[in-house]
Amino acid sequence: MDAKHLGFHSKLVHAGALKDAFGSAVTPIYQTSTFGFESAQDGADRFAGKASGYIYTRIGNPTIAALENCVAALEEGSGAVATSSGMGAIATAYLALLRQGDHVVSTASVYGPTRTLMEKHLSRFGVAATYVDTSDLAMVRGAMRPETKMVYIETPSNPLMQVTDIRAVAALARERGALLVVDSTFASPFLQKPLTLGADVVLHSVTKFINGHADVVGGILAARDESLYRRLREMMVMMGCNMDPHQAYLVHRGLKTLAIRIERAQRSAAEIARWLESRPEVAWVRYIGLASHPQHALAREQMAGFGSMISFEMKGGMEAGRRLMDRVNLAMLAVSLGGVETLIEHPASMTHAGVPRAEREAAGITDGLVRYSVGIEDTADLIEDLRRALEGA
Ligand SMILES: Cc1ncc(COP(=O)(O)O)c(C=O)c1O
Repeated sequence: MDAKHLGFHSKLVHAGALKDAFGSAVTPIYQTSTFGFESAQDGADRFAGKASGYIYTRIGNPTIAALENCVAALEEGSGAVATSSGMGAIATAYLALLRQGDHVVSTASVYGPTRTLMEKHLSRFGVAATYVDTSDLAMVRGAMRPETKMVYIETPSNPLMQVTDIRAVAALARERGALLVVDSTFASPFLQKPLTLGADVVLHSVTKFINGHADVVGGILAARDESLYRRLREMMVMMGCNMDPHQAYLVHRGLKTLAIRIERAQRSAAEIARWLESRPEVAWVRYIGLASHPQHALAREQMAGFGSMISFEMKGGMEAGRRLMDRVNLAMLAVSLGGVETLIEHPASMTHAGVPRAEREAAGITDGLVRYSVGIEDTADLIEDLRRALEGA
């Protein structure tokens, strides 16, 4: 089905679906490693791109393609490449688009391993990066060098919920001959479509909102133009970080309810964020839907909603943060986010523990910072859980 002219909710349900010989309502799981050729010539033609048809699941598979085509339609890109994890998508983008001597300007408060991959590993291959608060356009401009070939932003960022102006950074990157790559995991395509704002590549940890059920790890990249899409696919195939058909089936199943899950979770998040702001135990709350958020106006313009991620700083630092996490019952103390279940975590000792303390603090990830991913439980139950934990009841 040509989903181009469908609305977002219809695309979620129908885009990418494979029509098979049985009229299956859902794209089946093609759990096969390889696909038979009709003749030696057919095999040679498929490899040469002269005949259509699948070859080998690392290169492509109908179940994986159904998910990729759905995400490409949602992101309004020319193609998407699914990967075994979000980090697989990030590694694919770095390796496909950078070479020795290149420089990257990146959001300082990116997901910890994204930064570690660059600083510890890409640096060994002669790629350098500068980390700045990309929500400040002047800082991005100031960090650009003649050899800057990529601007890598995470918006909203993890865990500080900083919002970067995608349109403005895209224009700056284009003017300087650099590509803009956006990690849009915290927003999902329901809340933000970076390619339509000028980004070249958008990527997600589908482990989070896109799958939404905390039962799969996966990633995906979508590119604005066909040639970038081909570079990403080639690198994914060479690195062998493909998604598996069963994984793709589950992610595609979860994706269909993306909008209704987020609509519900963000209603709760807005209420919980306001409630947290009123609590004496809490120093400050970062939720992009609050007027107190520094980029609230930008988020209102750039995003279709404010999502369900809240960060807040406990008065009493590390000890108070850890006490809170040990006392909650309904919210699960676990890393990850974007699922139907509410999760709570402590970035300084968990997701961002690998980032050296000085860099962590410079990026604003303080010891008392708590990250809270709101699920789809009853709002009143979540607030009661937090109230008991804050009051030590
Ligand atoms: C913003 C962001 N990007 C990328 C990743 C990495 O994804 P994965 O864990 O699926 O490899 C994460 C994981 O938490 C994330 O939060």
